[in-house]
Amino acid sequence: MLSEKLVDELNEQIKYEFFSAYLYMAISGYFEAEDLPGLAAWMRVQALEEMTHAEKFFNFLCDAGGRTDLRGFEKPKNDYASPLAAFEYSLEHEKFVTNRINGLMDLAKTEGSHATQILLQWFVTEQVEEESSFGLIVKKLHRIGNDGNGLLRLDEDLATRIFVYTPPA
Ligand code: FEO
Repeated sequence: MLSEKLVDELNEQIKYEFFSAYLYMAISGYFEAEDLPGLAAWMRVQALEEMTHAEKFFNFLCDAGGRTDLRGFEKPKNDYASPLAAFEYSLEHEKFVTNRINGLMDLAKTEGSHATQILLQWFVTEQVEEESSFGLIVKKLHRIGNDGNGLLRLDEDLATRIFVYTPPA
């Protein structure tokens, strides 16, 4: 049995995962407008992955007897000063999500919800990967600086990312 507080926070997390997808689609649109189809494709794959994160929390709430409560969110940022600024913004967003996951884990521990802790363990590991992959691209963009050819090479590289849908357990 999940507490009211835990159900509320899990619903908040569904909101933030869907918001992450929405934000990354907005950033994908920015990259499309900047004629960087590879960066745009990478962000679209990221947006699809965020949808599966939301689905994981949604499924868990349904299975664990918590009522789902989908919420609205504000307009995401659509315009950026540069590809670097867009990825730095994304990395900060991922750090925010990591903090939320850690807070959720603390709450699940306080309330003795073992099932929620097992669910969150997957997200703790996932956030390490998320921050690492965004952080690596931020570093590459820093190194590229104003080198147009370097940016085109990165664009070609990121175009190879594909989305593999694994239905959440
Ligand atoms: Fe679902 Fe990128 O955190």
